[in-house]
Amino acid sequence: MAVAVLQTADGRAKTALSRDYAAQWRSNRDTIAIGHAKPPLRPARPDKPELLNPRDVPHRKPGSEAGRIALLHAVAHIELNAVDLHWDIIARFTDTPLPMGFYDDWVKAADEESKHFNLVCDCLEALGSHYGALPAHAGMWRAAEDTVDDLMGRLAVVPMVLEARGLNVTPGMIDIFKRAKVDQAVAALQVIYAEEVHHVAYGSKWFHFLCGRHNLDPTGVFHDLVRKHFHGSLKPPFNEEKRAEAGIPPDFYWPLAQKQRGLT
Ligand SMILES: [Fe+2]
Ligand SMILES: [Fe+2]
Repeated sequence: MAVAVLQTADGRAKTALSRDYAAQWRSNRDTIAIGHAKPPLRPARPDKPELLNPRDVPHRKPGSEAGRIALLHAVAHIELNAVDLHWDIIARFTDTPLPMGFYDDWVKAADEESKHFNLVCDCLEALGSHYGALPAHAGMWRAAEDTVDDLMGRLAVVPMVLEARGLNVTPGMIDIFKRAKVDQAVAALQVIYAEEVHHVAYGSKWFHFLCGRHNLDPTGVFHDLVRKHFHGSLKPPFNEEKRAEAGIPPDFYWPLAQKQRGLT
């Protein structure tokens, strides 16, 4: 199922399949065995959007309608990547024995990302645009490739760094759409904000589980893995409240933070 989602290129088709499989998982999970199938190194993607180096993606001011469309387009791109990231972690590491709860969590996360993609695409279409109308970041899958054979590295970088970053920036995005009175986008982003904290929590939960299994110090291992696999430092300000809710304490992220001006 995970590989079939990864191999589907069209966004709406990918997310429909993802949601269908998640529903099957929920109703039959006690009778489903975890199989082994080789996921592709990179998931199938539609012809559009054109994927550009982040440097070459044009920046638009969020104060204009074009800027708000560009912002939603970037969010849709992140959500589609997240669908693939969650199915990829399901298929990629089946040689590591894990409790069924691991699969329950990532199937649920993939289902929610699929819903998020569709909600944001609905907003884009209501504004006369669509996913694929603008260029998007080419680098989104890099974290998956960098951690292709390292489950703990994957958990550290994808949910605990990248998805945790979403918790920092989403409230500001909600404010932009509130000011512009785009209620549909406010509602979509509020769903995303409420659900993303669980994805970060799943990351922290299974990261700590594996540290415990191997008798490792979680904080030190987290720092080592992020430094090894993540390119760049973490950008404050951090959403400390939501990070705490997701089981990520301050000593996980502050030592990796970008040095702020005036502070040493
Ligand atoms: Fe999401
Ligand atoms: Fe997520």
